[in-house]
Amino acid sequence: MGFIETRQDITASVKEQADIVKIIGEYVELKRSGIRYLGCCPFHNEKTPSFSVHGPQQFYHCFGCHESGDVFSFLMKYHNYDFPTALKYLADKFNIALPRKKVTRKEKEREEKLQRMYDVTEKAARIYRQQLHDEKEDGAARLYLREREIPEDIQSLFQIGYAPAKEAAGWNFLETRLSSAEAEIAEQVGLLARGEKGGRYDRFRDRILFPIFDAKGRIIGFGGRIVGQGQPKYMNSPESPIYNKSRNLLGLYQQREEIRRSRKAIIVEGNFDLISLVTHGCTNVVAPLGTALTASQIRLLSRYSEEMILLFDGDEAGVKAAVRAAPYFLAEKVHARVALLPPGHDPDTFVRQKGLDALQALLAGAGDLSEFLVEHLIQQHGLTLEGKSRIAEEIKPLVTAAHSPLQRSVIIAHFADRLGVDPQRLEESVSSEENGAQRMKEVARPQQEREEIRLQPLSPAQKRLAEFMVMNPRYFKELEEKNLRETLRGGVGEILFLQIKMMTAANSEVQPEEIFSALPEGPERNIVADMLFNASRSDFIGSAADQAEEELQELLEWLDGQNQRNLSRSLTLQIEQAQKENDFVALEKLLLQKQTIEREMRGYGE
Ligand code: UTP
Ligand code: MN
Repeated sequence: MGFIETRQDITASVKEQADIVKIIGEYVELKRSGIRYLGCCPFHNEKTPSFSVHGPQQFYHCFGCHESGDVFSFLMKYHNYDFPTALKYLADKFNIALPRKKVTRKEKEREEKLQRMYDVTEKAARIYRQQLHDEKEDGAARLYLREREIPEDIQSLFQIGYAPAKEAAGWNFLETRLSSAEAEIAEQVGLLARGEKGGRYDRFRDRILFPIFDAKGRIIGFGGRIVGQGQPKYMNSPESPIYNKSRNLLGLYQQREEIRRSRKAIIVEGNFDLISLVTHGCTNVVAPLGTALTASQIRLLSRYSEEMILLFDGDEAGVKAAVRAAPYFLAEKVHARVALLPPGHDPDTFVRQKGLDALQALLAGAGDLSEFLVEHLIQQHGLTLEGKSRIAEEIKPLVTAAHSPLQRSVIIAHFADRLGVDPQRLEESVSSEENGAQRMKEVARPQQEREEIRLQPLSPAQKRLAEFMVMNPRYFKELEEKNLRETLRGGVGEILFLQIKMMTAANSEVQPEEIFSALPEGPERNIVADMLFNASRSDFIGSAADQAEEELQELLEWLDGQNQRNLSRSLTLQIEQAQKENDFVALEKLLLQKQTIEREMRGYGE
C-alpha cells in the first residue's frame, strides 16, 4: 500500500465527515434555502447573498465572483492554508486519525526546530524589554520614547525593548544571556551575526526594538529604530524559517480584535505611526514590515476585516505607495480606500497635533482606491487616444499582478469601464509585447465596433443533454453511442463532452462534482456550477435514480430521432446524386432506406 493511496483515502474520509455547511457556517452566516445554504460571499464584497453551499455535494459556489470548490479549497483560500494544513485542521476538528508516516516525523522535527526558534526570539524580546526598564529614566532610549509620547501601557502592549549600545554593553550583550544552544539558534534567526574572524556579535545595538508577532502571537523577528537621528533609521531581522516579511503585519496580533470589531483595518507605513495611532485611540491599525504592501498581507488582513483604508503621507512617495498597492487590492477583491495626509504630516504627527477627531474625519472621507488610481492615471496622461494608450501601458504591471484569469478579468473590466474602452481590446493591448501606436489606437476603438469571439450558446436541447451528461456521467457511454458529440458540436457542450469522456474512461464512477473540480475556471466551469446548483434545488432527490432512468430513455429517443433526421438528410443528398448519375440500382436501395427511416421517424413525431 503506497503513501499516495493512504493519503487519498484519508482525504476522502475527511471530506466525507467534515460537513461543509458546518465548516463554512463558522465563517459565513448561512441561511437554508431549499436544500442548499446561502450567505454573503467571504471572497468578495457583497450585500445580497450569492454564495451557496451544497451539503450533499460538498461544495460551494459564488454566483457573484465564481469562487468555488470543496471544504479543502475553502479553508485554503480563506486561511491561506496549504493542503496538508487544511487536512490536518479538519482531521483534528472531526477526530479523524491521520496515519502516522515518515513525513509526519520529519514534520514533527521541523516543528520542534521552529519551536526552539520561537523560544529564543521570545527570550530575546524579554531580555531587551528588561533592558529598557533597566535603562536610566533620563537615558537616551527612555527619553526618546517619552519625547514621542509613547506611554508605558502601549510600550508594554507592543513589548517594546531596547538593545544597548556597544559602548555600554559590548558586542555580545545578547549572547552572554543565552545558552550556547540558544546562541546557535539566535544566529539562525538573525539576532546574532557572525563577524569576519568567526565570532558572533549583536545585530541590534543602541536601537529601540519592536518585536514582530505573527497572527498567533509568536515573535518572529524584530524591527529596530535608531534612537534619535542617524542612519540607517531602521534595522530589521533578516528573513528566517520563522520570519517572512511579506506575509506578516506589524500590529495585527495586538489589534486583531479591534479590527474585527470595527470591520475595518487602517494601514499605515511606519512602526511609529502604528503605535502613535493606537496610543491616541485609533486602534484598528496595522503596518507592513518595511516593504511595500504585498498581496499576501492583504489576504491575511482580509480574514479580519472586509474594508481597508490606506493612511499614507500626501507627498509623492505616499501617492506612489497607494498606486502600487491598488492592483493587489483589486486582485484580492478587497475593498480599499485611501486617505492622504496634508503635506508635511505623517499619521503620527497628524494625530498628535490635530487629534483623534480630525484623524477620524480624514478617514471617513477616504476615497475608493481603484477610483483614486484611475484618477491619478487620468490626471497624469489625460483621456485622449494617446493618454488612454499610455494608461493601458501603465496598467500592464497591475494586470500581471493578478494571480488568476478571473481576477485578471476583474481588473481589466474595471479599467475598461472607467476609460470607456472595450475590455477585450484592453486585454489584448495589455498582454501584447509590442506597444506601438497601432495598438494604442485599437485600444481606444469604441464599443460598437468590436467583433466578439464567443462560444456558441447552447440551444435548449443541447442544454438539457449537457446537463444530463454532467449530472449522470454513469450513462455517458450510452449517450455517446447515440452520437451525442455531433449534437453538441461547436460549443461549451462539446468541451464538456470531451472532459467527461476523458474522466469516465479513467473512472467509471465519476461524480458530477469531480467534473466540476476538474474544469479550469471559465464558462464551462460556470455552466457546470449552475447545473449542480439547479440540481440541488430541485425537489425530487428521493427518487433521483428512477428519474434519471426515465430521462435517459427520453433523451436516447430524442437522440435517435436526431440521428434519423441526419440520416434522412444525407439519404436525400445521395438520392439526388444517384438520380443525376442515372444509377438506378443505388437509387432503388436508397429510396427504400429513406422510406423505412421516414416511417420510423413518424413514430417519434417531430
Ligand atoms: P518611516 O521613516 O516613516 O518610519 O518609514 P517611522 O517608524 O514612522 O519613523 P519615524 O520615527 O516616524 O521617523 C516607514 C517604515 O519603513 C521601514 C520601517 O518599518 C518604518 O517603520 N523602514 C524605514 C525600514 O525598514 N528601514 C529604514 O531605514 C526606514
Ligand atoms: Mn513616521
